[in-house]
Amino acid sequence: MSTDLPESYGSPPDPHEPPAAAPSRRTFIATTSAVGGAVVAGGLFAGAPFATEEAAAAVTADAPPSSRLSLTVNGERHTTEIDNRTSLLDLLREQFGLPGTKKGCNAGACGACTVLVDGRRVNSCLTLAVRLDGADVTTIEGLADGDELHPLQRAFVEQDAFQCGFCTPGQIMSGVGCIEEGHTGSHEEIREWMSGNICRCGCYVKIVRAVEQTARGK
Ligand code: FES
Ligand code: FES
Repeated sequence: MSTDLPESYGSPPDPHEPPAAAPSRRTFIATTSAVGGAVVAGGLFAGAPFATEEAAAAVTADAPPSSRLSLTVNGERHTTEIDNRTSLLDLLREQFGLPGTKKGCNAGACGACTVLVDGRRVNSCLTLAVRLDGADVTTIEGLADGDELHPLQRAFVEQDAFQCGFCTPGQIMSGVGCIEEGHTGSHEEIREWMSGNICRCGCYVKIVRAVEQTARGK
């Protein structure tokens, strides 16, 4: 094995991370719960009879805030009512039946949940769906054209760039973004701009080759 093969992408700045000032999903939910008490109230009262109509009305008033959302996913328009705390990842997997986007850490650390929003890669576990009214989302299910795989999907197969495959949808979506952004001038540049995507199986060398192959149109 060549000695210059990387064991990981390294740890440059994560291009998926939101700006420091932006609230994370976790802090948003903590704030929502602290102010409204909806989560705690819902949990405590679930299944228990209400002593008075006033008590029942109070719980109804504490129901989690919801919003109507319209967005396009893989070319298909969706309009739905969602709990404002719903992440894009949960919306895709649990409401839209698109389990290709994986839930790894659910905390913005692994990149398994990467999708494209208006052409820009994001960690869907950290993205509140309610903020995406009118957005255009692409997931791994939307890359292929029928039976015709996207060139990067083909390159992953040809380069054998996965083992368990759990990180692969996120790696491919991030790779598509990386190529679109033009961050493919060298192996080092690809590694840096793919550094937000972790692979426990350690397939980094072949993933970089697959991204490079696609970027060069080989
Ligand atoms: S599941 Fe979103 S970054 Fe890990
Ligand atoms: S192929 Fe197993 S985690 Fe990446």
